[in-house]
Amino acid sequence: MYNFLYKNNEMDNTVDDEKIMLEDIKPDKNLKILTGDRPTGRLHIGHYFGSLKSRVELQDKFETFIEVADVQALTDNFNNPDKVKQNVSQIVMDYLSVGLDPNKVTILLQSRIPEIAELTVFYSNLVTIARLQRNPTVKTEIAQKKELFGESVTYGFLGYPVSQAADITAFDASFVPVGEDQLPLIEQCREIVRKFNSIYGETLREPVAVMSNKPRIKGLDGNEKMGKSLGNALYLSDDIETIKTKVMGAVTDPARIKKDDPGNPDICMVYYYHKLFSDENTCKNVCEECKKGQRGCVACKKQLIENINNTLGPIREKRHYYEERPKEVMDILMSGTEHAREIAKKTMEKVKKSMKLDY
Ligand code: TRP
Ligand code: SF4
Repeated sequence: MYNFLYKNNEMDNTVDDEKIMLEDIKPDKNLKILTGDRPTGRLHIGHYFGSLKSRVELQDKFETFIEVADVQALTDNFNNPDKVKQNVSQIVMDYLSVGLDPNKVTILLQSRIPEIAELTVFYSNLVTIARLQRNPTVKTEIAQKKELFGESVTYGFLGYPVSQAADITAFDASFVPVGEDQLPLIEQCREIVRKFNSIYGETLREPVAVMSNKPRIKGLDGNEKMGKSLGNALYLSDDIETIKTKVMGAVTDPARIKKDDPGNPDICMVYYYHKLFSDENTCKNVCEECKKGQRGCVACKKQLIENINNTLGPIREKRHYYEERPKEVMDILMSGTEHAREIAKKTMEKVKKSMKLDY
C-alpha cells in the first residue's frame, strides 16, 4: 500500500509503528504533501525553525500544499471571528516572507473549499464520540481550554479531527509533515480512511505523518513553550527595536553579577539563542569566554541581536514588501485556493460515486 514510501532507498511497507522522518522520503514531485496552520496569531521563530524552514525545502521536492485552516481556527475561536480574519493575511505574509514561493507551493484557504465541509459530514458517520474523546491531542486541548468550553466541549471542537481528515484527504495528500503533538490527528485520519475504504470501496489515500527532527524552541524566558500569551516569543514580523528590547530582557545565568564572574552558558537563554542564530565559532567563543568570566552579558546580547537581525532582516524586508501590497497577498491566497479546489472537486466526485450519491 505504501509503495510510494522509500526508506534508505528500499521499499518499506511496515510504516505503521515507526516514525517516518522527512529526511527519509525520496523527493518526488508527483507526491502531494499537505500541512497547515490555524490562523490565530503571527508566526514566530519557533515556527520558523520548527516547520517553516523545512517547508521551504519541501517546496522543491514535492507538490506542496499549505492550508490556512480558518474553519478549524474557529472551532476554538468561534467567539472571535475578527481575530481569525485578521490573521489569515498575516500568516500568508509570514509564509511568503520566509521564502515559500507561490510559484512552487499552493497556499489555500480552508473556508473557500466547501468540499472539505462536505467530506467532514460524510466522515462523521465513521467516527465514534468515544474515539474522539480519547484522542490525546483533543484531550489535552480541551483541558487547556476550560475557560472557553466550561464543563462541556462543543460538537465542533470535539470533531475537528474529522475535519482535519477531510483537509488531508481532499487533496489526496500522501504525506503530512507535522510535529509530535499532531500525530494522534493523523492516526485518526488514517482510521477514517481505512473505514471509508472498507465500507465504500478503495477510494481514499491513507496519508502518512512525517516528522522532522527539529527540536521545539524554548522561549526567551527559558519556558519550554514559546507563545503569544507567554510574551516570550520573537516574531518574524518584529522590528529591530522590538528584537533588541526582547533580547536585552532574556534570562541569563542569574549567578553572574560582575562581568568577571564565571558563568554557566548552559542555563542561559542568550547562549541557547546564539546556538540558533550564530555560527559555530561564535558559539564556541561565547561558551568559553562566559565560563572564564571574560565576557559581559550586555556585549553578549548585543552580538546576538546582530546575528538575529542577519537572519530576520531579509525576512522582515520581504514582509514589508507584502505588507504594502495586501491585494497581492490575497490574490496569491485566492489563486492557490482555486487550484486546490479543482483537486478537492475531483476527490468529491470519487467519494460521491463510492457512496452512491452520484446523482
Ligand atoms: N491542527 C493543525 C495545527 O493546529 C493545523 C492543521 C489544520 C493541519 N489542517 C491540517 C495540519 C492538515 C496538518 C494537516 O497546527
Ligand atoms: Fe549568557 Fe552570554 Fe552572559 Fe554567559 S556571557 S551568561 S552566555 S549572556
